[in-house]
Amino acid sequence: MIAIDGPAGAGKGTVARRLAARLGYRLLDTGAMYRALAWSVARAGLAPEDTPALRKHVERVQIDLEGDRVVVDERDVTDEIRSPEIATLTSRLSMLGVVRDKLTPVQRRMAATGGVVLEGRDTGTVVAPDAEVKFYLDASLEERARRRQLELRARGVEVDTDTARRDIAARDAQDSSRVLAPLRKADDAIEVDTTGLSVDQVVGVLAEMVERRRREGCS
Ligand code: DC
Repeated sequence: MIAIDGPAGAGKGTVARRLAARLGYRLLDTGAMYRALAWSVARAGLAPEDTPALRKHVERVQIDLEGDRVVVDERDVTDEIRSPEIATLTSRLSMLGVVRDKLTPVQRRMAATGGVVLEGRDTGTVVAPDAEVKFYLDASLEERARRRQLELRARGVEVDTDTARRDIAARDAQDSSRVLAPLRKADDAIEVDTTGLSVDQVVGVLAEMVERRRREGCS
């Protein structure tokens, strides 16, 4: 098991996908599952603070990862969950125990077979504290905002630099300060600052570290 955590825009998504492909591992994008759940809450027209309704909804909604696709109750929502509105709602909902209690066990079950790269905010600390290799990816706020801007542009969504920076900073604050499973580097995670590095370079660094761990494990 390999766990990759870090703040929004640190490059986790792309790097985790490429590292998984390189190692022949499955990718478990835990953020996509939180986003899918948020999408379903928005779709149902529920307010995040309506706890009884939210609880009922969360109990019966089914979130699946099928290869690269994210599925909510058999509907493919892979593209729809990437909007800034869903990102903001996800950050709010992911503070709630009822939401985390739903997804954490599902993620643990999905990871149990091993041969998996888990990507998210709490995979090294909560979902898979016994992962063999843990990474914490970070980058400067400027760089993370710029990356998020490019990522949204590729999806046809234009945001200016100030908005991107503000959104990322707000999500950082919300993800790090929450009581349950806050974004935090696990004590035994390897921290990698990706500022100024290409995706290829980061994947290369991580793959090398995994290889080193394997050799140490064998010796
Ligand atoms: O990585 P992402 O942008 O797709 O994550 C969306 C939100 O989901 C993010 O604000 C924090 C939350 N999240 C979480 O609380 N725990 C995870 N393991 C993954 C994501």
